[in-house]
Amino acid sequence: MINWLDNRTGFRELMHEALYERVPGGARWRYVWGSTLVFTFTLQMITGFMLWSAYSPSTRTAWESVYYIQNEMFIGYIIRGLHHYAAQAMVVLMAIHLVQVVIDGAYKAPREMNFWLGIVLMMIVLGLSLTGYLLPWDQKGYYATQVTTNIMSATPVVGPEVQKLAQGGSDYGHLTLTRFFAMHAGILPAALVAFLALHIYVFRRHGLTVHDAKHAPDTTFWPDQVLKDAVACLAVLAVVLMLAILRPAELSAPADPAVKFDAARPEWYFLFLFRFLRFHAVEALGLTFGAIVVPGIIMGILTMMPITAQVLGEWGHRLNKAFIWLMAIAIAVLTVMAFYEDANDRGHQAALAEAHRDGQRAIELASGPDKIPVDGAVSLLRRDPYTQGPRLFAQHCAACHRYNGHTGRGTLVMEMNAEKVPVIGAPTAVDLGTFGKREWMTGIVTDYSNHFAWLKNAQWFKDAQAKAAAGESVEFINPDGSEMADWTSGNVESLKSAENADNVKALVEFLAAEAGHAGAEFDSALIEQGRKLATEGNWAGALNGTSCKQCHETIGDAFPAQPTDDGASGYPTMAKYGSAAWLKDFIRNPGAARHYGAKNQMTASTPEKLTDTDLDLLVRWMTGDHTASKVPDYPGQMEAVKAAISK
Ligand code: HEC
Ligand code: HEC
Repeated sequence: MINWLDNRTGFRELMHEALYERVPGGARWRYVWGSTLVFTFTLQMITGFMLWSAYSPSTRTAWESVYYIQNEMFIGYIIRGLHHYAAQAMVVLMAIHLVQVVIDGAYKAPREMNFWLGIVLMMIVLGLSLTGYLLPWDQKGYYATQVTTNIMSATPVVGPEVQKLAQGGSDYGHLTLTRFFAMHAGILPAALVAFLALHIYVFRRHGLTVHDAKHAPDTTFWPDQVLKDAVACLAVLAVVLMLAILRPAELSAPADPAVKFDAARPEWYFLFLFRFLRFHAVEALGLTFGAIVVPGIIMGILTMMPITAQVLGEWGHRLNKAFIWLMAIAIAVLTVMAFYEDANDRGHQAALAEAHRDGQRAIELASGPDKIPVDGAVSLLRRDPYTQGPRLFAQHCAACHRYNGHTGRGTLVMEMNAEKVPVIGAPTAVDLGTFGKREWMTGIVTDYSNHFAWLKNAQWFKDAQAKAAAGESVEFINPDGSEMADWTSGNVESLKSAENADNVKALVEFLAAEAGHAGAEFDSALIEQGRKLATEGNWAGALNGTSCKQCHETIGDAFPAQPTDDGASGYPTMAKYGSAAWLKDFIRNPGAARHYGAKNQMTASTPEKLTDTDLDLLVRWMTGDHTASKVPDYPGQMEAVKAAISK
């Protein structure tokens, strides 16, 4: 059979030609880099085709299909992980290969042509990683790639045209994705195969650039060098596979043009350029200078290397070596700087934490019972109270309130002090992190002054207090001295006494059940006991006979309370206090007579400022009415806030 085949194709000679290439000075580890690159590229082709068989390029299906690959497809995450990490390995191996070629002088005549082919290959590989980054259509890729297409527009003269071409029109969107996919899976790989064939052909024509011909006796490619190459390729495969399994490739939240993504960064091997562009001096000279002119000059010098060495001889070679080392060091330093600065940048870390939370949450919702809605994964988070609540809180409420010490999104509220130094700002309204829960109710009933003490940081409070001290009559909420404060502090001994311990527990149970936040479970016997205490005042000891209903007539009623405005008497309604319906009404009309009336200091959030949909999302988040999440909430910042205020 083999003879028959050889007779007709002459493959034996071809194999002999391919395998018995002479390796003067013996097989060596330093020759393996080229082979590892061919290997990783082959791996990319194979995993790439596998991914393609499940990938669907459109703004409504790209994230969804990558989600499927990553979370549902059989070993999909390993295939995607291999593709993800092998792409990075390829860039690293390419850099090593390039440095080695320059150091060994393998670029010199008569190998100039092959050096230039190598540079073209390098550009193609970088193009592949750039286009690949966008394909999952997640927030990370979407925003990082937008930076790239904006850089394209900085090209002199043809910039806007280049941008339009890459983007598929004047907008960055669906056509950008389909174009990038065509580049990534069609044009660039085809070009890579073609140039790689040329590269290997020309390489074989001139043979290896022998590092030290006397190193060992001459040998042939097969089997000595092939063995070393195979070991190196397996090592690369092992590293990439390990990473794919131990650190699965990330999929951030579905791309949403409406949600700014501050954590956007390019792939780590482009970070040096990103960092370079942020130098003030570079920024001042403009994007064209930093992103086009400087890289252009560097590529120019690189391309000219064979000619430099030809013209300047040995000195030219030394110059080239110095240049490649200089570049390697500069890139390493800039990359480390970028990582270091990001790690110490609070804002960036917070944005990263939020991006991570959103990504996890999107995946959690997509794999939940409701699955991905027909209008695409982007609405998963748009309709999710757990995601939108914190954002709305930060936007509409965090100017005065905090949520466990933070803005709702995990960050501290900072303000400038008199010396123009940023300090943690003091909240001017109560912290709503525990709103409506037992903890909250306990605070109000047993420690009213302390619970609302945050109000005392507000300017209106200081002004009102000054007026009151001057003998003027002012109506304001005074945590230290109001009927409510007097009732709790006047009865504090009795409230905290052992004989009323069970009663306080029952009252709190009743109040928390009235608020009725999702997920909480209540004891109905306790609720009944609490209701009696609130409305009839069956307390023990001195408290006996005093009830909440003496002042708050609507306690225990349904909301909206009938009559709606018992507040005319100056007592906020307690009808379903803390419930979703109460909260919605309060946010819209805090100054209504049924709430704080003339004492109110909170700005009403009208539908113009906060739409009904957003109000619903915010309130559902605050009352725990959303699908449960395994994604941890932002850590509390109360200690930091308290420490800052006590200073
Ligand atoms: C301008 C500052 C300010 C803003 C903004 C603000 N609040 Fe208030 N909030 C207050 C003050 C002051 C009070 C005390 C009662 C009052 O003045 O009506 C209060 C009271 C509350 C209470 C009642 C707590 C209680 O039981 O007494 C809730 C709940 C509340 N705010 C929620 C919100 C929400 C939700 C937002 C965002 C939509 C918000 N607030 C925005 C200042 C503010
Ligand atoms: C002596 C009259 C009085 C009694 C008794 C009283 N309160 Fe109040 N309460 C007030 C007043 C007045 C306010 C308005 C806040 C202020 O001026 O400090 C208030 C405010 C509140 C608030 C904040 C309301 C809001 O809309 O944010 C809650 C909650 C509350 N009371 C619960 C209770 C409970 C529970 C009881 C019974 C254990 C009770 N109160 C007993 C007078 C009273």
